[in-house]
Amino acid sequence: MTDFNSIISDYTAQVDAQLEAILPAASGPAEQLFAAMRYSVFNGGKRVRPALCFAAAEAVASSDSNTAKVAAAVEMIHAYSLIHDDLPAMDDDDLRRGKPTCHIQFGEATAILAGDGLQSLAFQQLTQLSDIPAQTVVELIGLLSGLGGCNGMVTGQAIDLAATGTALDLQQLKTMHAHKTGALIEASVLMGALATAQVNPQQLAALKQFATAIGLAFQIQDDILDVESSTEMLGKQQGSDITNQKSTYTSILGLEEARSEAAALYQQSMQALDIFADKADSLRGIADFIVKRNH
Ligand code: IPE
Ligand code: IPE
Ligand code: MG
Ligand code: MG
Ligand code: MG
Repeated sequence: MTDFNSIISDYTAQVDAQLEAILPAASGPAEQLFAAMRYSVFNGGKRVRPALCFAAAEAVASSDSNTAKVAAAVEMIHAYSLIHDDLPAMDDDDLRRGKPTCHIQFGEATAILAGDGLQSLAFQQLTQLSDIPAQTVVELIGLLSGLGGCNGMVTGQAIDLAATGTALDLQQLKTMHAHKTGALIEASVLMGALATAQVNPQQLAALKQFATAIGLAFQIQDDILDVESSTEMLGKQQGSDITNQKSTYTSILGLEEARSEAAALYQQSMQALDIFADKADSLRGIADFIVKRNH
């Protein structure tokens, strides 16, 4: 049996090295901006999205330096989304990954710019893939801009803000979660696979099914942890959703039903991976982590 923890550490080491290579050093006239970008990328994220890129690449072929670049791009979009998510105008959170949020550490203006900088750097990273057809690079840019933007994560955040203080029905809640969190998870899986330049349509369709299920499960587990974990364990303020009157799986369905929904989605995600046989073992391990994690 493969040691899942060592596989994840290896993925993390590879994406961290790539992020180190692309992020500007914190010096010069924009030193504060670069320091804020680095702070928000290197402050202890779980690197789930990069791990999904590597594992998806390995499900269809193998991972390589292009996988690390695609993984770095997705993680930069994720880091930017969290900086903006924590801002006073959004969730107004002071703690992220056990440390002061970017705007607490660097001020609001620099935090906004750090998000802006990370977003465009992610797309610049995608222009630096090697030995890959230009058409594939265009498809990768299309995926990240769509799923990370107003066809995905940004729309989800907008629905979240619009719904604050109101109660969504289950279908509306699913739509919000699928956008705000599911979309970037889907991008991670599809981009990891696509960057191998060896994926076929049947595999892509199966990976999309996997990602849709596990992406929704990811946000359900995030909602559950907001209720039942601790600030210390989470590294972010426990109860933030309740304080902010957010519509969440737990506020709408209750803890038990939220848990059984996450478990059902996990089962769906497993079925989608059958066609890959044991080549999808890392994806299975990550899915398992997503629904069992405590932070
Ligand atoms: C938190 O994502 C934000 C959501 C989309 C729910 P993660 O739980 O992946 O955050 P980090 O990167 O590990 O801190
Ligand atoms: C954030 O959802 C989703 C993003 C796109 C950043 P949450 O607001 O629930 O994330 P946390 O709980 O602050 O990490
Ligand atoms: Mg939020
Ligand atoms: Mg938040
Ligand atoms: Mg949350």
